Amino acid sequence: MSLHRVSAATALAVALLAAPTAAAAPFDLALPIPPVLEGAEITIPVQEADVQVLPGAKTRMWTFAGSFPGPTIRRPAGSQTKVTFVNELPGDKGALSIHNHGEHVASADDGQPDDELIAPGSARTYTYDLRENGGPERPAFQWYHDHRLDVTGRNVWNGLAGMFIVTDPQGAASLPLPEGEYDVPLMFADRSFDAQNQLTYPDPVPFGDAGQSYPGTNAPPDDLILGTRLLVNGVQQPHFSVAARRYRLRLLNASNGRVMTFSLEGGRTMDQIATESGLLPAPVERAELRLGPAERAEVIVDFSSLAVGSSLMLRAGGSDVMQFRIDRTAPDATSVPDTLLPAPNLGTSVRTRSFNLNLVEDAARGRTAWAINSRTFDHLRTDAAPKLGTTETWTFKGSTRAHVVHIHGTDFRVLSREGAPPPPWEAGLKESILVEAGETVVVQLRFTDHLGAFVFHCHVLEHEDNGMMARYVVSTDGDGGSVEVEPTGDGGGDGGGEAPTSPPSPPPTVPEPVRASDLALSWEGAPRTLRRGRRARMRLRVRSTGTAPLPAFKASVRLSGGLLAKGRRRVRLSFPSLLPGSSHAARIEVKAPRRLRRSSIVATAGAHRSAVTYSLRRNVLRRSAVRARAARAGGLGRALLCRL
Ligand code: C2O
Ligand code: CU
Repeated sequence: MSLHRVSAATALAVALLAAPTAAAAPFDLALPIPPVLEGAEITIPVQEADVQVLPGAKTRMWTFAGSFPGPTIRRPAGSQTKVTFVNELPGDKGALSIHNHGEHVASADDGQPDDELIAPGSARTYTYDLRENGGPERPAFQWYHDHRLDVTGRNVWNGLAGMFIVTDPQGAASLPLPEGEYDVPLMFADRSFDAQNQLTYPDPVPFGDAGQSYPGTNAPPDDLILGTRLLVNGVQQPHFSVAARRYRLRLLNASNGRVMTFSLEGGRTMDQIATESGLLPAPVERAELRLGPAERAEVIVDFSSLAVGSSLMLRAGGSDVMQFRIDRTAPDATSVPDTLLPAPNLGTSVRTRSFNLNLVEDAARGRTAWAINSRTFDHLRTDAAPKLGTTETWTFKGSTRAHVVHIHGTDFRVLSREGAPPPPWEAGLKESILVEAGETVVVQLRFTDHLGAFVFHCHVLEHEDNGMMARYVVSTDGDGGSVEVEPTGDGGGDGGGEAPTSPPSPPPTVPEPVRASDLALSWEGAPRTLRRGRRARMRLRVRSTGTAPLPAFKASVRLSGGLLAKGRRRVRLSFPSLLPGSSHAARIEVKAPRRLRRSSIVATAGAHRSAVTYSLRRNVLRRSAVRARAARAGGLGRALLCRL
């Protein structure tokens, strides 16, 4: 890597000599702090923007609201937050899917790789309850980024990443930690640029007939894409002016594939207080802190022993990445308490599963691909079906390369690393973990609140896009049965792949019948008018209203008056299993005929019906009613008007 190595003194001297406009010297640029959004309802346009990343020409990036990193969302644990992303990127960039990394959320709001997408020109609202297991979730330093199948690496590299901080509603009242301007989120990411300061990332290579692609780099295992420059909050080698007191620094490694080891100049230590999943049981003094892609650590750095006018360098992999300039004093009532937040007891595991991070010869790609238990990602296949409310133990066996296991939807507790208890900085909960080459890591995880599909994958983004992702589906029954055991390793370090074994075929998913009394149907977003030959989108929402979870099912939709969906007058919409009180909306695109006449769209599930009707007025179909009839178990219908 070609990072400049400059001592603090040289850097300061250079900075002082340079004219304010000549932004070529290292540490000239001030650390940008991304704009902070704190509302319960947030709208973020996803758009191209020219961003000052390097001195000189700006860089055209794909951004959240025009900045890189995107705005930092800060919300208290327990406060529902709705974030609407509007895909304003040029249409050829394709659909997006935004994942709030670290959030415990309903399947539909999780940023599915190939489902619930945000098509170009459209928007999607994700609901984050920031709750878990009946209460506010643990405050944590999360981040959000695109998660689109096959092109996550490209999309994140081009800028689609922002930070999301779930705060403690009690703030310093619960622990005397630095707050406000002394609580600083830092996104580290490596990137490469051409001579015009533009980002370089290879075009994805299409394969197969389902529109898939893989990153156009070397075949796995040599598919890492490492940037030549290290950015902090989107700027190379910034400086940050600090007061001589304690700071809480939130470190995020948002690189596609670079593992970073952070340290402070002169062997100074930092107190690590948190992981990805919030506070550790107790602080841990660290001289070096190693983070794989997507891993986070929060540290307390105490600048109080440094003189005003001095500076301190933060290093990553031995290179200076950021300079702290101590330029003032400030009062400080904070401290690093001896105990922080105990890790919860996740109970006893009801079953174990084993996952090998390995390499396969992939016929579809015509080259090697990364795999989990010898299977590359398939968004329709279920690789594990844990039972809601239970705890499991999962073992991950590494390959000849480092991987980062990230499990969506839940935090995990590290039981062992290489057969030994985890180091103290992994003694809390985590949701992303670096599995170094050849290592075995065992974690324990519990599945609460949300039924449905979630993914787990390697967070080296090119590994993920090259197949290293799997899907688990939380259900009310679970998959019981046996443990999958597969041969380990990826066949040596020289890229010779292990031949794919033929894995047992996944359990088929069977639609289950719907009980009559426990759901409510409603149409949402049905447009006021429909014009001849035009298409319109709407959503059928199903809410589970009973006391038991609703199994997965399909609702049928009948269209009359010449309306068609997928060219047909009758379609079925799939719904995942739903917990009591939760809901899911399925989209449907309706096309109006050339000769308009009175029309209706009627959804039926069990004994429930919901209908939108349109009547013809002045050559346009106008919405005349939206009705739902909820049948009780006894069969008594009840008409109610739904709000749109
Ligand atoms: Cu940070 Cu599945 O992602
Ligand atoms: Cu990997």
